[in-house]
Parts: sequence; C-alpha cells; structure tokens
Amino acid sequence: MDDNNTTNHAQLTPNGSVMHVLSSDDIEILDDGKTVRDFIDSKIEELGSASNEELFYVANLDSIVERHLRWISNLPRVKPFYAVKCNNTPAVIRMLSALDTGFDCASKAEIELVLSHGVTPNRIIYAHPAKPLSHIRYACTHGVDLMTFDSKDELVKISRHHAQAKLVLRIAVDDSESLVRLSSKFGARLVSVGGLLEHARKLELEVIGVSFHVGSGCTGSLAFKRAIADARNVFDVANSAGFQMSLLDIGGGFFAREDFHVKFEEFSDVINESLDKFFPPDSGVTIIAEPGRYYMESAFTLAVNVIAKRVDDMDEHCNDEENHPDRVMMYYINDGVYGSLNCLVNDPAHSSVEPYLHKAVVDSEPKYRSVIWGPTCNSFDKVSDGCWMPELQVGDWLLIDNMGAYSTCLTTDFNGFEKAHIYIVVSAKTWHAGNLFCT
Ligand SMILES: Cc1ncc(COP(=O)(O)O)c(C=O)c1O
Repeated sequence: MDDNNTTNHAQLTPNGSVMHVLSSDDIEILDDGKTVRDFIDSKIEELGSASNEELFYVANLDSIVERHLRWISNLPRVKPFYAVKCNNTPAVIRMLSALDTGFDCASKAEIELVLSHGVTPNRIIYAHPAKPLSHIRYACTHGVDLMTFDSKDELVKISRHHAQAKLVLRIAVDDSESLVRLSSKFGARLVSVGGLLEHARKLELEVIGVSFHVGSGCTGSLAFKRAIADARNVFDVANSAGFQMSLLDIGGGFFAREDFHVKFEEFSDVINESLDKFFPPDSGVTIIAEPGRYYMESAFTLAVNVIAKRVDDMDEHCNDEENHPDRVMMYYINDGVYGSLNCLVNDPAHSSVEPYLHKAVVDSEPKYRSVIWGPTCNSFDKVSDGCWMPELQVGDWLLIDNMGAYSTCLTTDFNGFEKAHIYIVVSAKTWHAGNLFCT
C-alpha cells in the first residue's frame, strides 16, 4: 500500500478549507452561532406553515468530524476505512473523503459511488468475502486491488477475474460479545488457514494481510485482544509459507454512544496494547479498520410527524379525562420499522428508540401511557410501546437522535410511504477551518 495513504493526515484543499470538496449546493452552513436544533426548529416551522408533514433527517457533519478527531487521537496507528454500507449518503462520503479516510466497500455499487466522489482506488478495500464475479471484474477494471477472501472457491474466482489482486484473508473470530454476530457467516476457521494459503500459492495469488470483524456493536474490548492475537498466528503461518504479510484489518464493531457502559477510549487502550504487543510499529505492518456505526450513529437526527391518533379507553366507565392509568394513547407517525426505524427489527445493536416531543411542554402536564406506531397497515410496525408522554396532537413533531447508522440505506417503500429527506448541515467554523482536519 502507498505509505502516503496510511497516515492520518487529512487532505487539505489549497486554501485550507473543505468547501471545495463539499459543494454548498446541498449543504446548509450554520453561521452566526446557529445550532442544529435551530435548523430543526426553523425547518419544522417552515413545514408547519405550509401544512407539510414531510419527515426528514438532519445530518450534522460536525459530528462526523468530531468522531474522526476522536478516532485519530485514540487509535493513531489505525487508519479508518469507513464502511459505506452503514450510510451511503453522498455528502457523508465526500466529508470522509475530505478527512482522508479510506473506504470499505461491499459491492460494485459502493465502489462506483466512492470512486464517483473522487476517491482513488488505492483508498478502497473490497471487504466482502463472497463476491459476484461481475463485481470482481468491476473492481479489477477500476484498479481496486485490495479485497478479502475466506474460501478456496473465492480464490479460484479471484484468480480468474482479478489475478493481480492483493488479498486479505478474513478469519472467523470469537464474536460472542457482539450484538450482531458475523463470524457464523464469514471468516475462515484457524484450522483451514494453512490449506487456504497453500491454495493461494498454487494459484499464484498474492496474500498480503489478515482481516476480522468482532461483530457489530461489540460490548467487550477483550474480543479485539483475542482477535488480534489470532491474526498474529495467521501472520506467522503465512510468513513462514513465504507470503509477505503487511496489512492487518481489525474490522468494525466500534460503539461510541455516550450512554453506553464501555467507552471507545477503553476499547482503544486494549487495542493499542495488543497492537503494540503483536504488531509493534517496527513490524512494518499497516493497520486499518472498517468502522461504520462509530462514525455515523450520532450524526443523524430524525424528525417525524404525528399523522393520526386514537385514544383507547380500557375502562368504559371512566370519565376522568386526566391521568387515567387505563387510558392508552395511540399515535401513528409517518416513519416506522419499514422506513428509517428498521433498526428496531434489523439491528440488535439499536433495538429501541426514544422519540421526544419537539415542542416544549411544562413538567406539570399530565402524562399518558402512549404507544407509537409506524404508518403502515402492518401491526408489526410499532416504534415504541408503553412510554409515558404528554398528550400529543396530530401535526406534532417528534425527534429521534442517533439515527445515522444502518437507517437510510435500509428503508423500503412498503405501503407507499415516503422516505425521509436528508438535510445536511455543517457549522461555519468547520466549513471554513480546514486546518481542523490536520493532526
Ligand atoms: C465487513 C464489514 N466491515 C465493517 C462493517 C461495519 O461494522 P460496524 O458498523 O459495526 O463498525 C460491517 C458491518 O456489517 C461489515 O460486515
């Protein structure tokens, strides 16, 4: 790999700002101290005055920059290759490109997307161990050489369609501490590593590294410690088989929610210690990772509208209008599990959300047991059950934070409901201060 691409220095535009990389056409620059919340307030006011209930996300690019700075100060030896599958919003790709991350692509379309934003092929890893032939050919003709494999059949495919590829052997690791386990689907068992390497040798393929993924939403840092030790063993086997091993890819799985009990910094300490033990700086091994959730989760806030309401009185003899424990408020909002909130069924690492009312309410307002439903005709489409909220009215807005990971890319048009529009915002400070991205 090109050394210049493995440092954590952002690519600065000539005048030291990011504005040439991000076009202002589709980005709202927050100046005069305007905050993201101010933007949301004015957007809701604008929509309200037009009786428009259009749901929307606000994507805050500053949050991505903050995450990036936190990454490079905690994991200085690990170059992030952002996992595009997590959120493929073009402005996000352009922002990360300006920050000089690499990109983990899972398909031809993701490679195409990243290349279309000016990313050079040597900043891409095609990190899917089970690739369609046509996608391998696309990678080959577009100069994307770095790719993963975990089977003999994949080696045969690659030898026929991209013989010059630089291969990274994905191994299965202990993912029992992760909320989304991946090693049951991908990764060679350690016992099969010798045979795979021998097969690569016969096919005259170049294996240059090892990758793993501890699973998405990893809750225990020791998973990384064990996996890095496993990778060291594979390096030793490969080096003694004559391969020039130079790349370790520690995958994704990083959490950074402030409300999560294990902090990113604690994970980083364990990872750094293991890297220094098994892959010290003088080993010459380049270390990369494929974070997705880490970069995106806090960057997006979703704004949804209450489109319908029904009051369910469990006790027909009760006339007490306020604070009645048997009264259940049913609200129907214009997004749900078939839309942006698909995480509720698809993502065990984000299996509940906490919608909160956009308008201000006084503490003394009576609270009702409330069930929030998505807009479709399916009763599976439930967003939140049994929370206590002040009474909402049709037309009220609810906000949901931390909606950036595995949301926009997984929405369907089931029942014909519209998808959330994405408004991109960035502070004037970030927009103009390119030097912020230089470490
Ligand atoms: C190969 C690969 N890399 C990276 C990621 C991103 O993982 P995360 O969002 O947990 O960081 C995934 C998620 O499924 C993946 O499959």
